Amino acid sequence: MSDKLLEVRNLRKYFEIKQGLFKKVHVKAVDDVSFEIKRGETLGLVGESGCGKTTLGRCVLQITKPTSGEIFFQGQKLEHKGMKDYRKKMQIVFQDPYASLDPRKTVADIIGEGLDIHKMFKNKVKRRERILELMDLVGLNKKFYNRYPHEFSGGQRQRIGIARAVAVSPEFIVCDEPVSALDVSIQAQVINMLEKLQNEYGLTYLFIAHDLAVVKHISDRIGVLYLGHLVEIAESEELCDNPRHPYTQMLLSAVPIADPDESERRQREKPEGEIPSPINPPSGCPFRTRCKYVTGICSEKFPEFTEVSPGHMVACFHHTTTPYLSVTKPATEGVSHLPQNEISDDDLNNNANDYIADVRGGVSDDRIIDEGGM
Ligand SMILES: Nc1ncnc2c1ncn2[C@@H]1O[C@H](COP(=O)(O)OP(=O)(O)O)[C@@H](O)[C@H]1O
Ligand code: SF4
Ligand SMILES: [Mg+2]
Repeated sequence: MSDKLLEVRNLRKYFEIKQGLFKKVHVKAVDDVSFEIKRGETLGLVGESGCGKTTLGRCVLQITKPTSGEIFFQGQKLEHKGMKDYRKKMQIVFQDPYASLDPRKTVADIIGEGLDIHKMFKNKVKRRERILELMDLVGLNKKFYNRYPHEFSGGQRQRIGIARAVAVSPEFIVCDEPVSALDVSIQAQVINMLEKLQNEYGLTYLFIAHDLAVVKHISDRIGVLYLGHLVEIAESEELCDNPRHPYTQMLLSAVPIADPDESERRQREKPEGEIPSPINPPSGCPFRTRCKYVTGICSEKFPEFTEVSPGHMVACFHHTTTPYLSVTKPATEGVSHLPQNEISDDDLNNNANDYIADVRGGVSDDRIIDEGGM
């Protein structure tokens, strides 16, 4: 069996929108993106808000119909109208744990949604057992079985959303900024839980975030998206230690670091500028309006995606001459992933928690039901 689970080839999504009374324009949300994800791997996807992350994730799952391009799952080409067989295998965890849960449904019915759609349990007792098992798996107290979403904190709601996604035993999950809306301390718990589930069930993730600190922790490889284009992709360590694209360098410079001198130096090196409109993107390189290394060719031609070292691809004309920021390691040094299959519940609050709190500073969660009492 191939170890390639998902392949995306030349994916485009252009939204047609009205401008004024008669004029129609296209929002180029995703533009000619190609990548692969191996079985059991986590591919992180980073980029600023509006760069096309959600659209890309939804196109991969065919929730949004791509304008063009191909997506292969387990070697089979996915079609927007032929997804029935794949819905069980490919799931999504949404960014907003408040909007993504139906307020009229109980926790049990939300988690059981997929089980019912795919008619996985005819026996009500067995269905209930499975839902309770899932609640346990994501750290939700079984006594909340008949509670409603509004009674829960953001972190707990996201646990419900994750239980709903894993209920049907999928192989692949798009995690669309699953922790962005959560308090820092809760982010770590949810990330650790996702890692634990991945280790136990061999899940493959496309993990979307705008925060490189979060993505680095969970991802094997990271892709960087800018204005709908993939501009760099590499193994996580390689990308963070040796960023080749000026935009990746900019994102890294925004990761808070512990050393104040280094932090100040990074601030000074941070490029300025607004993200251009995806309706009217710049000619040539999409990053040229913000890039401090821009030259004439950057506005004339589109930089091809080039392999600069094994597995490290970058789309920049000057990737070999760019004077890279001498990126000192962010305060992620010494933080290792949790050991496979050896994760106790106590560990849930430790590893990623320390890491994220270290680099971003923690605050308390204003949860309704105490997270510790789940
Ligand atoms: N349904 C839609 N119709 C028109 N434009 C859209 C739609 N969905 C997203 N967009 C636009 O596509 C671009 C990418 O959006 P999105 O994928 O949500 O980015 P991200 O998740 O990185 O914040 C944005 O400019 C956004 O306004
Ligand atoms: S191609 Fe030119 S403008 Fe684009 S990132 Fe590279 S140096 Fe900057
Ligand atoms: Mg988004």
